This record gives sequence, C-alpha cells and structure tokens, in this order.
Amino acid sequence: MTMDKPKSNLYDLRINYSKASLNKTDVQSAPVDQFQQWFDEALKSQVYEPNAMVLSTVNEMGQPAARVVLLKEIREDGFVFFTNYKSDKARELEANPACSLVFLWHELERQVRIEGDAYKIDSHESDAYFAGRPYESRIGAWTSPQSKEIESREELEHLAEKTKEKFKGKEVTRPEFWGGYIVIPRMMEFWQGRPGRLHDRIRYVWESNRWKVIRLAP
Ligand SMILES: Cc1cc2nc3c(=O)[nH]c(=O)nc-3n(C[C@H](O)[C@H](O)[C@H](O)COP(=O)(O)O)c2cc1C
Repeated sequence: MTMDKPKSNLYDLRINYSKASLNKTDVQSAPVDQFQQWFDEALKSQVYEPNAMVLSTVNEMGQPAARVVLLKEIREDGFVFFTNYKSDKARELEANPACSLVFLWHELERQVRIEGDAYKIDSHESDAYFAGRPYESRIGAWTSPQSKEIESREELEHLAEKTKEKFKGKEVTRPEFWGGYIVIPRMMEFWQGRPGRLHDRIRYVWESNRWKVIRLAP
C-alpha cells in the first residue's frame, strides 16, 4: 500500500526560540514567587488562557492520564483547581496524591513543570468559589456525572433541564461531590526557550526543608 503524500512535512516544523533568557541569579528564592512573576507576564502578554494547565495523575496500574484543567488560585503553598470529586482524576488522586502540572506559554516560549501531591481544600473554600461561578456552570456541576458513560448529548441536556427544575426559585449551592484540590509542589521547573535548542532550565527542588535551585541541561 502506498501512503498519500503528506500535506505538510512535520520534520520541517520548528521554531528557533529567542525571546528571553533565565539564570539562577535572576530567579526568586521561592518558586511560587517566580511562578507568580511569570504568570503576570503571561497575562500582560495576552497569552490565551494562561491558567490552562495539564494535570497528570497515575492509576493503580501505573498508567498515567493527562488532561487540561484551569488553575483558579495561586497560594503560597500551592496551586488550586476545581473538579468533580467522583471523576477519574479525583479517584486517582484519592488513591495516589502524586501528580504533575504543566503550563505551556507559547507566546513567551516558556514552560513550567510542577510535581507534587494534591489534597482536597477545605469545604468552606470550595463553597466560596462555587458561589461565585455563573449559574450555568453551577447547574453543569450538578448535572454532569463527570467521567461516566452517558447515552447521548440529549441525555445530558435533559439532565440539565431536570437540574434547573429542581433548583427553581432556590439557590444553586455546591454539590458535596464537587470542589477544589491544592497541588503542593516538591519540584518546580522553569523552562525558557533559547536559540539552537540550548534552552534554559532552572529547577527548584524541596530538599532538607528549603528550596534548592539548580540548572539542568536542556
Ligand atoms: C481548557 C480546558 C479547561 C478545563 N478545565 C477543567 C477544570 O477546571 N476542571 C475539570 O474538572 N475539567 C476541566 N476540563 C475538562 C478536563 O480536561 C477533563 O475532560 C475532565 O475533567 C474529565 O477528566 P477525567 O475523566 O480524567 O477526570 C477542561 C478542559 C479544557 C480543554
């Protein structure tokens, strides 16, 4: 069998990164402060959805799974996202809190990698965030049996209608099966693309109760 000629040649797709550099002497002593600085720069540069991050978890067979979630809070001790506590990701985190986060900020030629453990945040904190979400999102949280098989799109829309009926005239409060996790980092790495593939990688490792900063080969 002959293959069709490819429409584009992936071998030729490459960018030479040259926007900035990163040195051990430039970075903040706490990685969360460095993250906040880069996040503010991503916002200023109008990066599309700078708070979108890839969350990877591992199941009991050692099979990793990755998906995008939205960062909703940067705290001194970690990174908060919200999800369904009965979803696949949540079940995996309950059995094994070890996880990773990856941010890719193309427009700045930057990547941030985080490794750590995820824990549920306080229910009052989840209540407070949920209360501020738009009505449709709150209905959606009640409606979706996240990660479960459903028959059809129609079934989902029907469930949403039923949820709206149920809450008619009432406040849509947080379901107990929905809330936040905080990822507490033990490793954070800041990657800045450089020319000729000689990129800068500055890594923070939590060791002997302090953040050690090292440079890694790209
Ligand atoms: C840009 C983007 C943002 C997303 N944000 C969230 C989020 O904050 N929380 C969430 O549970 N799922 C979010 N999702 C959906 C997840 O990627 C995923 O499909 C869902 O959480 C189910 O994952 P699971 O079955 O592995 O638990 C987002 C997807 C995209 C593409």
